[in-house]
Amino acid sequence: MTTRRTMLQALAGAALLPSSLPVLAAAAAPEGEALKEIARRKGLRFGTAVGGGRNQFGDPAYRALVERECSIIVAENEMKWQALEPARDAYRFEPADAMLAWAERSKMTMRGHNLFWQAEKWLPAWLAKEDFGADRSRAERLMRKHVQTVCRHYGTRIASWDVVNEAIDPADGKLRQNALTRAFARGAGAIDQIDLAFRLAHEYAPHAQLVYNDYMRGDSGSTKHRAGVLAMLAELKKRGTPIHALGLQAHIGSWDESPERGREDMLQWRRFLDEATAMGYDLLITEFDVNDRRLPADIAQRDAGVAAAARDFLDVTLSYPRLSDFLLWGMADHISWLQTWDEAPRADKLPMRPCPYDAQLRPKPLRQAIADAMRTMPARRA
Ligand code: G3I
Repeated sequence: MTTRRTMLQALAGAALLPSSLPVLAAAAAPEGEALKEIARRKGLRFGTAVGGGRNQFGDPAYRALVERECSIIVAENEMKWQALEPARDAYRFEPADAMLAWAERSKMTMRGHNLFWQAEKWLPAWLAKEDFGADRSRAERLMRKHVQTVCRHYGTRIASWDVVNEAIDPADGKLRQNALTRAFARGAGAIDQIDLAFRLAHEYAPHAQLVYNDYMRGDSGSTKHRAGVLAMLAELKKRGTPIHALGLQAHIGSWDESPERGREDMLQWRRFLDEATAMGYDLLITEFDVNDRRLPADIAQRDAGVAAAARDFLDVTLSYPRLSDFLLWGMADHISWLQTWDEAPRADKLPMRPCPYDAQLRPKPLRQAIADAMRTMPARRA
């Protein structure tokens, strides 16, 4: 029998991570039981991001795949501030509303992503250019107006919000600065602005799960990032900030993971999740995919490596019963954001294969790995 370990050994150093785990699906899995059903039996919701770009939401076959496999979705871009308010005071809800209406018709729940994205690059252009000087109250009023407008628009139809996205700079573990945080400089700075973001979300969406969402990983390149996230979560806890959960983006496979360090990376990851949950935070996987840039061009080897890396990560991460939602950042390779992300491309420039379905919507070994990981994980809390 081919085990995942022997499969990875056969990849001769090209695999993303080592494996300590049992059997790998040798070929594309039959679809079988829907992923949402496997998840549901364990008290987990399974889903994906859906975007208007790259012909996803407009493609009936892709939509049908999402309806069959998923019980929860999130808009890949359409609920971001720059999408909702591209020009000041001119809110544009239609694309996100269409997605939410479809989700509700299809009996899927929808998460909100995101109210505040801390990287200045991803703020609305009109806001990124704003200079509030020392006028903190003007920045506060603007934040209030945004949260009030968006949360009132969606009401209880959105039951979980990524309130703050990517607040930590991975380079130094410190809080990122932007046009809004600079207005809070006379106080404690960015942490005051983040604290206010959650308090506003709680005020206008008191029913909702409020999430901090970020992309830290277990590898050594992410050490400062993990430390920064934990320090911020500890400070927010001390302040009594209404924040309920940590969103683990889980874009794995892209940076410093290596076969030699894989076991150590997973230990560090577990330590990180232990610390976050010990503070009382729930967990979600919010944006899972597997960058295959370290894997060989051969498709069978590549798909096996992706599935094995996923299984290693998921076996650790899904072992936390506090984790109640598991979302991918796209179900099929051709619509993945990774195809156009130029920061970590494949050296051979081949299209990536980071998702559980290929461009023809045929299931891949990654789908089997996800199904197997959910079948073997412990049941969630009721
Ligand atoms: O809106 C234009 C459209 O009019 C044009 O046709 C198209 C041409 O490429 O570009 C469109 O906008 C792009 C949009 O994706 C929709 O495809 C933007 O330029 C591009 O910057 C945007 O990228 C998104 C990125 O976030 C920035 O918002 C990605 O799709 C999306 O996958 C990515 O998602 C982030 C999460 O929100 C946070 N965590 C990391 C994750 C991956 O980077």
